[in-house]
Amino acid sequence: MISHHFAEGLRNVPGVQLLAVGSRSSVKAEEFARQFSVLRAYGSFEELVRDKDVDVIYIATPSQFHKEHCLLCLEAGKAVLCEKPFTHDAGQAEEVISLARKKELFCMEAMWMRFLPIMGKLQKLLADNTIGDVRMVMADLGFASSCGLKGTQDYDRGKGALLDLGVYPLSLVFFLLGKPVQVLSQVSINAVGVDEQLAAIMRYPGGELGIISASKLASLSGEGLIVGTRGQIRIHAPLYRPHKLTISLSPNLGDSSKPPSSWLMRIRRNSILRAMYFRFEDIFGLVLGKRDQKIVVEPFEGNGYNYEIGEVVRCLREGHCESQVMSLDETLNIMKTLDVIRHQWR
Ligand SMILES: NC(=O)c1ccc[n+]([C@@H]2O[C@H](COP(=O)([O-])OP(=O)(O)OC[C@H]3O[C@@H](n4cnc5c(N)ncnc54)[C@H](OP(=O)(O)O)[C@@H]3O)[C@@H](O)[C@H]2O)c1
Repeated sequence: MISHHFAEGLRNVPGVQLLAVGSRSSVKAEEFARQFSVLRAYGSFEELVRDKDVDVIYIATPSQFHKEHCLLCLEAGKAVLCEKPFTHDAGQAEEVISLARKKELFCMEAMWMRFLPIMGKLQKLLADNTIGDVRMVMADLGFASSCGLKGTQDYDRGKGALLDLGVYPLSLVFFLLGKPVQVLSQVSINAVGVDEQLAAIMRYPGGELGIISASKLASLSGEGLIVGTRGQIRIHAPLYRPHKLTISLSPNLGDSSKPPSSWLMRIRRNSILRAMYFRFEDIFGLVLGKRDQKIVVEPFEGNGYNYEIGEVVRCLREGHCESQVMSLDETLNIMKTLDVIRHQWR
């Protein structure tokens, strides 16, 4: 499914050709090649990596095979773009990264969310101190899965809530806050040992918190919320492909540096009004004209996959072995954090 989306996205990237496809079956490879006008179809990954004209290989196999397939490509001298989660654990990620660095080949985790235009806008807003100092980042992703998680093979294939979905909110927290100093997590594991839903809290040196949740049992908001000392930025769903932000600069009821308006004085003194204010903050803010809201929309071209592909092309043309937007150190630290979270469930 994902390789189909990717092939669609690639059509929107100038100067790139989908030259060859590899599958375990030549019938499937040929079918894919017909569908996306691919010139060469190979019935094994070994044949694909031997194609001298191929510059970079996109890996969209189940995550339990990412390490094996990354190593196969890198050993053959091919640059790699590998789907999330990059590997099954940090040890595997280290193996892949060290081979890529040893061979001086480009390698990147395909965390497509990071390359969408709205993320650049978001970084600029934060750099401009729009919401003050960031204190908390919250994000979630969850879908009520109709087929359910059947067995340990789902876990092995990376279909548990953490590796399949939790990696997006976690990657967002890393994008905004970096590597945490402490992680605490809780999980619901089903009868056959697969993580169905989880929550994790990350703490940072300055006291900032990153709070993530992921679920295969319930539809979550699929949004992100960045809370700063002067306001908030909401990243609208879907978190994996955002294009809209709402910036809210709200009056601080506890801010004693400014003389409060009579309305705010009344709200502050009356516990019922105060409770209602926090419950219906948006409406109060609009009525009192105190809430400064701005919506930022950054539409994207194509289906969104084209931006991560564009980054790969740029890096290859400029001779970079890594992307600064999704660096290998960051990928490794994300994998280590995923390991820490899973370790707490044992
Ligand atoms: N970017 C995103 O938004 C996004 C969303 C969901 C998933 N993903 C990631 O994308 C990757 C692919 O996801 P998917 O749902 O498309 O995976 P999938 O359908 O389970 O597998 C993709 C393909 O991998 C090939 N494959 C190679 N070795 C295999 C093996 N031993 N067993 C089974 N299949 C094997 C199969 O192709 P052949 O039969 O042709 O060999 C299969 O069709 C995963 O890493 C997933 O985490 C990304």
